[in-house]
Amino acid sequence: MGEAGAPGSKNAALPILAATVLGGRSVIHNCPDISDVRCTVEILTALGCDVSYDGHTVTVDARGISSHVLPKEHMEKMRSSIIFAGGLLSRFGQFTAHYPGGCKLGERPINLHLSAFKQLGATVEESEQKEGGIIVAKAEKLAGDKIYLNIPSVGATQNIMLAATLAQGTTVVQNAAKEPEVTDLQNFLVAAGAKISGAGSSIIVIEGVRELRDTEYTVMPDRIVAGTYLAAAAITGGAIRLKNIVHHDMRPIVEKFIDMGSFVTLEEGAICLTAPQRLHGLGYLTTQPHPGFPTDMQPQFMAMLACAHDNTTIEETLFTSRDKHVPELIKMGAKIINRYSKFFHVNGVPQLNGATVKAMDLRGGAALVLAGLAAHGETIVQEARYIQRGYQAIDSDLQALGADIKYFDPQAKICD
Ligand code: EPU
Repeated sequence: MGEAGAPGSKNAALPILAATVLGGRSVIHNCPDISDVRCTVEILTALGCDVSYDGHTVTVDARGISSHVLPKEHMEKMRSSIIFAGGLLSRFGQFTAHYPGGCKLGERPINLHLSAFKQLGATVEESEQKEGGIIVAKAEKLAGDKIYLNIPSVGATQNIMLAATLAQGTTVVQNAAKEPEVTDLQNFLVAAGAKISGAGSSIIVIEGVRELRDTEYTVMPDRIVAGTYLAAAAITGGAIRLKNIVHHDMRPIVEKFIDMGSFVTLEEGAICLTAPQRLHGLGYLTTQPHPGFPTDMQPQFMAMLACAHDNTTIEETLFTSRDKHVPELIKMGAKIINRYSKFFHVNGVPQLNGATVKAMDLRGGAALVLAGLAAHGETIVQEARYIQRGYQAIDSDLQALGADIKYFDPQAKICD
């Protein structure tokens, strides 16, 4: 049985790093060594923060912030750059930003973020409501309010928490996202002196405070990297002991591995999975906001289901085009039919075949790596830089589990 450990969570580290603009000196441990964290460090530096980064600990001194303009080139690279907006607005009463880029998963508007800022008292002007457009927001003072989100958006929930942290009065977010990464942001902010409660439920209450204090915080483990490593064992009929995980956060993912015929035991902070020779199909699998099955595991499960017994219909409900991996899996022999854009009928085949395929987003790229592990012959995944946005060591971690995998061009590891 191979052993691996989950690194710090990308989707927790990025908003926490953005939140450091609210405080003085913040020391953030367990940040993953990935290109999105490096991009976030560059944004902090461009704003005027004094930042040091040793690969896992980022130390930010935000007292010298001199700019409220989020750099265009960074915003185009990474969707989560928009999470800087809430903190800048709360602390300095202004920000200028471009529409964020990031993985192309379909329409990804930021209307909920901006309308919440307006509800808290900001004026928001947009030159164009699409990539390339500029957003200028200003607020004399922000005042708490009741904000209902018609979609439990993770990013909008986080931006409201940040904007409301130093606002006057109390803000209540209704239909808030319940993802564990939202709770991790709350935990960081509370450690720094914010008054926030309710994260993990659909109602979050933020009582504005005057300022935050210096703080030191350790980011939660990455449940999606953990799920991907479990999938590496499962798709190859292998076994794994995975350390540094939070059982409760992993539950929506682990239940599906059990349904697919894997044997799972829980140890303190670890999980052991033994897969059958060939996984079973699931019949139907739908992505849902937490505590449902996460969209960030949909491509990896599609790779597993593509070579499982029986058929599965996958319904992707969060994003309109999280499907760039589908034609690539088909190149490897998968039988997948797409209906009404969000339904994918996956007919499991006994064997996938190695091929040259292209990653077009982060999790889709990880799915192609998984398919390559199970496939007969060699698989080359081009554009591996997408994978490096979220996986700090997929090559060495999978090698330690017995996989034959390497980055073709070591320079590709230094990306974006
Ligand atoms: N949405 C709107 N308006 C908004 C905001 C969101 O219509 O103002 C819609 C989106 O278009 C989408 C849905 O709401 O259809 C959910 O989007 P959400 O805002 O929850 O996603 P996000 O904050 O942009 C984060 C993660 C994603 C993850 C989603 C869902 C980070 C940095 N990103 O994105 O992670 O898929 O939540 O859980 O936290 C990944 O890691 O590969 C990744 C894409």
